[in-house]
Amino acid sequence: MNNTLNEKIGMNNDFTEDEKAGIYKAIFSRRDVRSHFTTKPIDEKVLTRILNAAHHAPSVGFSQPWNFILIKEQETKKKIKESFESERIDSSKLLEGTKKSKYLSFKLEGILESPINICITYDPSKFGPFVIGRNSVPETGVYSVCCAVQNLWLAARSEGVGVGWVSILSNKILKQVLNLPEHVVPVAYLTLGYVTEFAKKPDLESAGWLPRLDLKDVVYYERWNQKENRGWITINELIKTNLDYA
Ligand SMILES: Cc1cc2nc3c(=O)[nH]c(=O)nc-3n(C[C@H](O)[C@H](O)[C@H](O)COP(=O)(O)O)c2cc1C
Repeated sequence: MNNTLNEKIGMNNDFTEDEKAGIYKAIFSRRDVRSHFTTKPIDEKVLTRILNAAHHAPSVGFSQPWNFILIKEQETKKKIKESFESERIDSSKLLEGTKKSKYLSFKLEGILESPINICITYDPSKFGPFVIGRNSVPETGVYSVCCAVQNLWLAARSEGVGVGWVSILSNKILKQVLNLPEHVVPVAYLTLGYVTEFAKKPDLESAGWLPRLDLKDVVYYERWNQKENRGWITINELIKTNLDYA
């Protein structure tokens, strides 16, 4: 991290209004980027900051079960892209008619166009086998890796670097190509690069594939599916109003 950023973060526990705005800006303007990558290489100091942000994610029992495999060799990317092509065709078989042709028309990865690809993996053996908090719900290991992905995604956004998550891939091929040990699981395959623009809305929303749900439709009170509750009247009203960011 450069000095100015270090100084800005400082030791003060409170967020200033500008700092708060910065966090929300990163959250609301983060996009999954597939088609707006430029070839400009990512500054290695910037990439290091982004990776360090990912590495400071929460993790079950502080197990830090992630590894970040940095990829820029075109040969590797080509093999991954081949896997994408075959998985994409395979998954399209589940669809018919216009839905199928629409799906096949979407640009759903930027593997070759983005200067850097990163595979983020889950290693359950790290600090194991006993990890505090992972016994009852073993998936918490993978959840931790997803927290690292989100940190990376937001930090990248603040640095003007776009990130795309490509999951239309065979984990078997990923493991072979990247030489992963048997017990290590690829969790996220990400493509990173500077971009010409960050779209205002998710591509799938703009394309009319799915709408963003209203906040009021995803919040329940006290019990599953309870949309109103006497103890939650104010927030229930607030959530129904148009929020500042839409
Ligand atoms: C676990 C996960 C897997 C995803 N896989 C793909 C993918 O294979 N291809 C793709 O184009 N987008 C992929 N995405 C991105 C989503 O489509 C995107 O996040 C969503 O449409 C909302 O758009 P936004 O990220 O721009 O807000 C993935 C996202 C997540 C969280």
